[in-house]
Amino acid sequence: MHAVDIIIKKRDGGELTRQEIEFFVMGVVHGEIPDYQAAAWLMAIVLRGMSKRETVDLTEVMARSGDVLDLSDVAPMVVDKHSTGGVGDKVSLVVAPMVAACGLPVGKMSGRGLSFSGGTLDKLESIPGLNVHLTIEQFKRQLATIGIVIAGQTADLAPADGILYALRDVTGTVESLPLIASSVMSKKIAAGANAIVLDVKAGRGAFMKTVQDAVALAKVMVEIGEGVGRKVRAAISDMNQPLGNAVGNALEVAEAIATLRGYGPEDLTEHCLTIAAHMLILGGLTDDEAQARTRLEEAVRSGAALEKFRQMVEAQHGDPAVVDHPEIMPRASIVRSVAAPQDGWVKALDAMEVGLAAVGLGAGREKKGQPIDHAVGFLFHKKIGDRVKSGEPLFTVHANSEAAYQVASEWVLRAYEFSATEVPAPPLFYEIIK
Ligand code: URA
Repeated sequence: MHAVDIIIKKRDGGELTRQEIEFFVMGVVHGEIPDYQAAAWLMAIVLRGMSKRETVDLTEVMARSGDVLDLSDVAPMVVDKHSTGGVGDKVSLVVAPMVAACGLPVGKMSGRGLSFSGGTLDKLESIPGLNVHLTIEQFKRQLATIGIVIAGQTADLAPADGILYALRDVTGTVESLPLIASSVMSKKIAAGANAIVLDVKAGRGAFMKTVQDAVALAKVMVEIGEGVGRKVRAAISDMNQPLGNAVGNALEVAEAIATLRGYGPEDLTEHCLTIAAHMLILGGLTDDEAQARTRLEEAVRSGAALEKFRQMVEAQHGDPAVVDHPEIMPRASIVRSVAAPQDGWVKALDAMEVGLAAVGLGAGREKKGQPIDHAVGFLFHKKIGDRVKSGEPLFTVHANSEAAYQVASEWVLRAYEFSATEVPAPPLFYEIIK
């Protein structure tokens, strides 16, 4: 077999055999197939798609490109969640400690920023010293001792996703149902959780722009997970505007900590309670959503959820002082707000443009492996449905140069649309797929 023949076959719309997929993916993992051929293959998949059978094969091959964790010696039930990517999406940082504080172990493998969407690993690395590169031993030990772990792909766990993900980030090859489904589910299968809640985003700041496409993606992922014996549930959520008020790595960690203290933004808090409630239900702690929410709210009120977050930071060698002093994370030299240009109601705040503007500030990557700036980003004061008065602060830019501030502030201002009449806030969720 030759890599180029497999690229050509997919380019011309052919259906790849399991052997061809395995040859290609393992060739990439072993360094025998170079990045340029991998990128060409990914683009061919974006343009030509994959059948259900190819998608399942790709997922299994990627999951088995390293070890597949068996966590039965750690706990009888471990839960996980995963988002398909959004802007301002710091949900994992909030729900993992909330759920773990209710006594259900959370073992999670996360990703980095992808195109305009942020990544949990990049956010966590805003915390001084925090290590996301855990060995399998460390992953299991931490899960057994404190019941919470968030780590990245390693040479041992889903290495194929680690490599392909980094290439997709910078080659315009993210928006593809089979590539997203296989990337998400290979990580989830490899990390070994018994129950998985998927937060599948739809809208401008998501990779699936319509609810219909998000539902199609969710159904494939649920089917893949159930096919390998995992309990899976998917929530289809809105991603037309950023979630919460903060966009940017350290700013989002600070907002997650505030939410764990009980004073996060309303939309983020509500979103996290819903996702976490489904995790408790899928994990078998209760079968009643109202009861699940009460337990989660109590975990926040009592400080138990925040304490879980602190334990996780400490276990992963981060500075636990961040919990009481988020200001120890990197801070931008320019912090300046931008005023509303007119009176009215906010009609749109295009999350994709906000995400791209954040990457422009340095919060994400334009080249593979590029270092990012954890300090930069935005804080939004007005979102869809809010009334604004001309001259009021609309959003604040955190930038590290005047030039970057200028570009980003104009970019985000263009992402806003205003209406002279009242506009309803968008829904948080569209549907739940069980
Ligand atoms: N999250 C992932 O892990 N992979 C994708 O492709 C998109 C979102």
